[in-house]
Amino acid sequence: MKIRKAVIPVAGKGTRFLPATKQVPKEMLPIVNKPMIHYAVEEAVNSGIEELIFVTSSGKEAIENYFDRNQELEAFLKKNNKIEMMEDIQRIGKMVEVVSVRQKEQLGLGHAINCARGLVGNETFAVILGDDLVLSDTPVTRQLIDVSERNEAKSVIGVMEVPRETTNKYGIVDGDFLKEDAKTLLMKQMVEKPSPEDAPTNLATPGRYILNKEIFDCLDEIPKGVGGEYQLTDAINLLCSKDKVFAHIFTGDRFDTGSIAGYLNATVEFALRDKKTRKIMEEIIKEKMKSYNLG
Ligand code: G1P
Repeated sequence: MKIRKAVIPVAGKGTRFLPATKQVPKEMLPIVNKPMIHYAVEEAVNSGIEELIFVTSSGKEAIENYFDRNQELEAFLKKNNKIEMMEDIQRIGKMVEVVSVRQKEQLGLGHAINCARGLVGNETFAVILGDDLVLSDTPVTRQLIDVSERNEAKSVIGVMEVPRETTNKYGIVDGDFLKEDAKTLLMKQMVEKPSPEDAPTNLATPGRYILNKEIFDCLDEIPKGVGGEYQLTDAINLLCSKDKVFAHIFTGDRFDTGSIAGYLNATVEFALRDKKTRKIMEEIIKEKMKSYNLG
């Protein structure tokens, strides 16, 4: 069965970016000239996803509007002969089918995913956390879909190696590497934000998952976990005891745009990687190195 749907939770309050996020959803903050959420949606579309399910909360309407057509803006750009710009804007509105569901209480990532149950139905689906951007030739979600398709359409968690001392920021997986695939593990367990001493490995997920429908029964069964929230990690851990679950070390560079430091880093890096902005950013860096005596 083709994986057609992706769930992107966007209900969070974005408190780390206040006051900017008082009125503007965190997901709409730009990295260079595109809102953060654009990159996550682009990853989904380039992975073959046809329908996006946003799990939203009040005040997040700008996200849905962004992926809708804006006829008035299109007409304005056309009238002013800005055809290329108009086509770019049009393309965003036609990128993908978007539906949304409200998460009425902030009870954790597990709860957010469970809110999408009715819209996902019985299909295997992807989950993409927009706070983490991953740049790679083959989009990371596509890499995970490929592993799922090679392994009886089972669930697959995207993981990367992180420094030991940072395991308490992530969901950490444990398992045995497959003989035939040195980057894929059959999972034994998954733990949410363990301390470095308790972490079974240093393989962490930056929020990329392929999940089959069995996850929903697990989400119904788990108690509240770390931080008093329903954790997706706990449901995946339960799923490991009922079904085969894989973890895959993906290829790509990951940026944590959920923190101010990560956001600044991504802004500089994305500007350097885009040929339209590379020269400008290089000049800025050189000038700042000189004027602040950094070098
Ligand atoms: C969430 C997940 C965690 C995952 C992380 C990736 O945590 O619960 O397992 O590793 O996203 O960013 P959060 O960062 O929302 O606390």
